[in-house]
Amino acid sequence: MVLISGRGSNLQSIIDTISDGSLPAEMRAVLSNEPDAYGLERARRAGVETRVVNHRDYKSRRQFDTALMNIIDEFDPGLVVLAGFMRILTPAFVNHYSGRLMNIHPSLLPDFPGLDTHQRALDAGVKEHGASVHFVTPDLDGGPVIVQARVPVKESDDADTLAARVLEREHVIYPQAIRWFAEGRLTIENGKVLLDGMPSLDRH
Ligand code: GAR
Repeated sequence: MVLISGRGSNLQSIIDTISDGSLPAEMRAVLSNEPDAYGLERARRAGVETRVVNHRDYKSRRQFDTALMNIIDEFDPGLVVLAGFMRILTPAFVNHYSGRLMNIHPSLLPDFPGLDTHQRALDAGVKEHGASVHFVTPDLDGGPVIVQARVPVKESDDADTLAARVLEREHVIYPQAIRWFAEGRLTIENGKVLLDGMPSLDRH
């Protein structure tokens, strides 16, 4: 089950990896909080069921998250994948899917949690930037990291060119992390992710 808010290019990379046979998983549904998200169109084209839960229709985060959980649980997913889902989730939601809720974040966590990561990386003058796939915990962008991709920051970069370089790698590491999960190769021990029993970070 994949949750989106917008363009859905990460969703597309997961759809493509499933359909070319290199990701042994079934995508049961795509859920968006934005009715006009382009990712919904991508899902429909791939023959995947779609649902919309518009956060504007709910008075509180708790009510919105309860509506999300009700729909997600109808599909009984083994894994809930946040792919550009831009709503902050309540601890009740996060705990309900503990150990089976993944997110991709466009920075080398723990650097630059939150929004505007590419511009903030440029402003900080870092030489390397990237993306992280992590299990979600109630700590915003703070859950155990499964895999990261690193890219160089060039002098000529602006936020758009840097975002594009990072995004290309996101499309590789997200399907890979999901594959490891589907193959039962990921475990969490003392707040760290292990791949085949070994520290997974940077192995890709
Ligand atoms: C991606 O870059 C993803 O890492 C980021 O949003 C973009 C969604 O693009 N996610 C976050 O910032 C989460 N806080 P996409 O819709 O084309 O996959």
